[in-house]
Amino acid sequence: MNIDLAFSPYELKKKDLQGKSVVVIDALRATSTMIVAFENGCSGFIPVSTEKEARGRVASQGDSDLLLGGERAAMMIPGFDLGNSPRDYRPQKVRGKVVVLTTTNGTRALLAAKGAAEVFIGAYLNLSALSRRLEEVGRDVIIACAGDDDLFSLEDTVCGGAIMDRLENAGVPLAKSDSAMAAKVLYEYCENDIYEMLAASKWGQYLGKIGMGKDVRICAQVDSSRLVPVYREGKVFLVR
Ligand code: MLT
Repeated sequence: MNIDLAFSPYELKKKDLQGKSVVVIDALRATSTMIVAFENGCSGFIPVSTEKEARGRVASQGDSDLLLGGERAAMMIPGFDLGNSPRDYRPQKVRGKVVVLTTTNGTRALLAAKGAAEVFIGAYLNLSALSRRLEEVGRDVIIACAGDDDLFSLEDTVCGGAIMDRLENAGVPLAKSDSAMAAKVLYEYCENDIYEMLAASKWGQYLGKIGMGKDVRICAQVDSSRLVPVYREGKVFLVR
């Protein structure tokens, strides 16, 4: 299996996604939050770029099962139903609902993954289940890190390396690009304490400073979920 990694949506747009499995990772916090939401009974997400688009989508559909979610600078957008904290997505709030979501980097990465054969949602929470799915599908893989404003982010890159580790441990031979090799080496450096790495990362420190340190703990719960949501035709959902 060939495996490549884009450090940001900007890089992803330069890659040929045709026929590939793409894994979108925004470990802090968008893709982790989605997985928690699905665990709590959420029906799906519609990722959009802007706040205006999100409001327009909900207003035009007039559907009471549609909620508005998202953040800017990690804070809930005024007037929205949910922020981007996994703790917002409680069962009472999200069961049976679809969330129109806009986040700074995570939803951008998802939108940039259009054109791939399959797009999967990845995080530390679903590492093993996701890797098994990639193996079953058997296509070449591109890991799409959400990054930080089109720049490198430690937490997403290390998560990409962790997926490679899981695949290799399962006996899948990987032909890695340079960026994929770099991610694997970084993972090997941090693998003994994922929480420590997340908390030390630039965004992890920021979340701690604004009182959202609990979210970093939640996002560090390796393999707490077996769910592997997919992004198809504009929507993120679970395939049963
Ligand atoms: C993003 O999309 O940039 C993040 O998920 C930001 C956050 O922590 O809310």
